[in-house]
Amino acid sequence: MDSARQRLDYLWRRGRDFLGTDLAILGGAMSWISERNLVSAISNGGGFGVIASGSTTPDRLAEEIGATQEMTAKPFGVNLITMHPQLDALIDVCGELQVGHIVLAGGLPSSSAIKRAKDTGAKVMCFAPALVIARKLVRSGADALVIEGTEAGGHIGPVATSVLAQEILPEMGPVVPVFVAGGIGRGEAIVSYLEMGAAGVQLGTRFVCAGECIAHPNFKHAFIKASARDAVPSVQVDPSFPVIPVRALANNATRRFVEFQQEVIARFRAGGVEQKQAQLEIEHFWSGALRRAVIEGDIENGSVMAGQSVGMVMAEQPTAAILAELVGQAVATLAARDSRHPVVV
Ligand SMILES: Cc1cc2nc3c(=O)[nH]c(=O)nc-3n(C[C@H](O)[C@H](O)[C@H](O)COP(=O)(O)O)c2cc1C
Repeated sequence: MDSARQRLDYLWRRGRDFLGTDLAILGGAMSWISERNLVSAISNGGGFGVIASGSTTPDRLAEEIGATQEMTAKPFGVNLITMHPQLDALIDVCGELQVGHIVLAGGLPSSSAIKRAKDTGAKVMCFAPALVIARKLVRSGADALVIEGTEAGGHIGPVATSVLAQEILPEMGPVVPVFVAGGIGRGEAIVSYLEMGAAGVQLGTRFVCAGECIAHPNFKHAFIKASARDAVPSVQVDPSFPVIPVRALANNATRRFVEFQQEVIARFRAGGVEQKQAQLEIEHFWSGALRRAVIEGDIENGSVMAGQSVGMVMAEQPTAAILAELVGQAVATLAARDSRHPVVV
């Protein structure tokens, strides 16, 4: 086992060095969920917690970072949404509080946002949804990349994690640390992406049922009951009214969203509403929906964002146990090879 653990540590050494952690496992930022309790638990467990900032204000972010620093002396990061109107001020808060890693998410960050984040002294991570964008982000100064496939929970792109990994890792893996996200629920998958050239992985769905996570018990219970096929992308009914796809558990809200789009589009066709206004109404359907489910526990009328790996969430567990399970599976995978093909030293 020991040599298998050493091999795992060798496989993800670049990720560990980049993050400053024992394990190259990022707890991906999840709005309303990734706050001081879960973030510090992941970091204290040897992984790398990331605070979700969503639409927060600079003052609220400062408070959250400060509270997290009180709960852990280990490294953690902050996820900022690039289209936030106060992005610069949020970056400055990270700088003042000496956050070591800033993750720029929610759209392509500008070179100036990357530069401003780097100027704080932080290492900057960006999401790369395609190889050309990965190249551009690295040219603009990104220190590391996250590639997130369509299996993930929350806002998603169209391409599977396995395909993104094959497209991006061979070229970018040797250039900067690349972290693979989307659909990872077990250590065997972690080993396979590390062997393809990833520096580490990012998981979200697997951490929702952590004991330290503040998500409402109804939200956690929905995760424990669900299987992979229950986590579906939101449906767009008309190409003229684009919808950014979100993967969530099917419920009243996801069904109602289809009817709602049909109603709004019918009103537009009848001349009762302008196209722009109709598009806005469709976009606003989900505002506050994640909070309704995560915080208030309304899992029928809120958005229960979840990735396909939700089928591998079986129970509420302490964060440290989730991390230990993932590492144990990764080590066992590597150790099993030793017994199949004895190593002659
Ligand atoms: C409930 C939920 C909320 C999320 N919110 C965010 C977010 O605010 N910002 C972000 O960059 N990613 C968000 N994500 C994506 C995660 O950070 C992570 O990349 C993703 O969960 C990894 O895939 P997995 O769900 O298959 O583990 C969210 C995911 C979930 C499940």
